[in-house]
Amino acid sequence: MATVLETIAKRSSTRGYAATALTEDEINKLIHAGLQAPTGANKQELHFTVLKGDAPILAEIEAEKNALRNLDHVEHNFYYEAPTLIIISADADYKWSKVDSGIAVENIALASEEMGLGNLIIGCIYDTLHGEKRKYFEEKLAFPENYEFEIAIAVGHKAVTKEPHTYDYDKQVTFLN
Ligand SMILES: Cc1cc2nc3c(=O)[nH]c(=O)nc-3n(C[C@H](O)[C@H](O)[C@H](O)COP(=O)(O)O)c2cc1C
Repeated sequence: MATVLETIAKRSSTRGYAATALTEDEINKLIHAGLQAPTGANKQELHFTVLKGDAPILAEIEAEKNALRNLDHVEHNFYYEAPTLIIISADADYKWSKVDSGIAVENIALASEEMGLGNLIIGCIYDTLHGEKRKYFEEKLAFPENYEFEIAIAVGHKAVTKEPHTYDYDKQVTFLN
């Protein structure tokens, strides 16, 4: 089994998936990885909506996103036709909701990497889920009362691979004595 550091170093975004569905066991492991993430004051204010890639509501979100962006043709839908999508919503009034959602989504990303699956963290539907149809989407996605969209993650078997991103250590890191 890979170490956490090895998994972190190997993870990258996947933008192309095989049609193979994830097993119930795989999905459960991913959800537990999200639930095991720490939350501010252990509030556990996150909610996970799990959808299959062919869920009709996802086609509605995709259509609304494209309408808002005046796009009449896209090569891929927002989750790159992944077989599973997990949407994280959280208490709209809790100050750590965004941080906690980010931690949970990365836990799921690392778990999926460790399980040999591809994943893509998705924020591009943020405006769609906070727009005019917000209430409609929140109800269809079974968000708890006063919860809002934070982030989503697609998971599936990789049909394409990509190297992890590079970074500029010297620019981004300062050591103070
Ligand atoms: C908050 C957040 C939102 C993101 N939203 C999207 C998205 O909507 N669509 C997408 O293709 N990638 C999205 N990404 C993936 C980033 O583009 C990707 O992590 C970044 O380019 C670095 O590449 P890597 O993940 O392969 O290391 C998102 C990542 C984060 C952290």
